[in-house]
Amino acid sequence: MVGDGAEQHADSPMRVVIRISRFLPKPERPRRHSNPFAKDDAKQEPAFPRRKRQRGKQWVQDYPMRVHPQDTILNCLLSIKRDSDPTLAFRYSCGHGMCGSDAVSINGTPTLLCTATVGEWAKTPVPLSSGNEFRHTGVTTGSVDASIPVTTSDAGPASPAGADESLAAPGNDDGGDAGPDRIIELAPLPGFPVQRDLIADIDPMLEQIKRMKPYLQAKGLLATKADGAVDVFEYLQRPEQLHRYELLSNCIACGVCEGSCPVYAGGEAFIGPAALIMSSRFINDSRDGATDQRLDDIRQADGIAACQSVRACSRHCPKGIDVGEEMWRLVERSGGAQG
Ligand code: SF4
Ligand code: FES
Repeated sequence: MVGDGAEQHADSPMRVVIRISRFLPKPERPRRHSNPFAKDDAKQEPAFPRRKRQRGKQWVQDYPMRVHPQDTILNCLLSIKRDSDPTLAFRYSCGHGMCGSDAVSINGTPTLLCTATVGEWAKTPVPLSSGNEFRHTGVTTGSVDASIPVTTSDAGPASPAGADESLAAPGNDDGGDAGPDRIIELAPLPGFPVQRDLIADIDPMLEQIKRMKPYLQAKGLLATKADGAVDVFEYLQRPEQLHRYELLSNCIACGVCEGSCPVYAGGEAFIGPAALIMSSRFINDSRDGATDQRLDDIRQADGIAACQSVRACSRHCPKGIDVGEEMWRLVERSGGAQG
């Protein structure tokens, strides 16, 4: 749910508490019966070992900050990590909505850290009685570090401590904004095993996407020279044919649709919308020659038949793909659900 920070003045700094569900995995113990001299130990490992829920320590930690509404939540985390708590773990790469590596749950909604802004997501906490008390949602709360610096949107991912001295330290009231701090709650992407803090293990999704053979299996027009050497390999297509799959090709495999899907959780009974979108991208590509095989692949019990048409997957795709509608088109194209 998007917060109510919209009424905040466009660029005035605001106090927020970034509340993060944290997780520290328990170190794995060495296997008791492993034989260091056995030559065929590796062969005994199954190719895809069944994933177990990680064991470890879980807690909720608050990080109060003063930030600008236009700062991204990724900027806030980078600032925390650099200046306050280097143990905080999260994943990102491109920083501008292209790689899909930083999907998390923000206030319970799967989305990308790098495109979500503080002003958009900061919400007013529910007061327990009066003053600045918050309703705590987790196991325990960590320390409140008053030395956390301000992030600024025009100073790169995070500004160094004290870079903007016009802004007050967290918790002080001389910044001009009154009332309780707003809250942004962060948790790892739902539906996936947690590796650490905000890092979810998305390997199950990547394996499922690989199953769909996400590459062009085309019979292109091959022109050769007189000596048999390849001159040009062309994949001809009309604009209207490109239009049928162009938007689907923008999928960045972020997993936001999977995190929104109540059927996907765990990924064993349902291959998931991201893999199906990837398959649909090639099914709709006039150059691809493997349509029949692709349709057979999605007719498996964990394929399109497992989709319950909840359509939660459509709500937050960062690339604007109407995932639920695409699932329905696949149902029609594959001849209906055939579990
Ligand atoms: S369809 Fe959208 S939400 Fe789903 S993985 Fe692709 S980009 Fe992410
Ligand atoms: S960091 Fe690449 S999409 Fe957010």
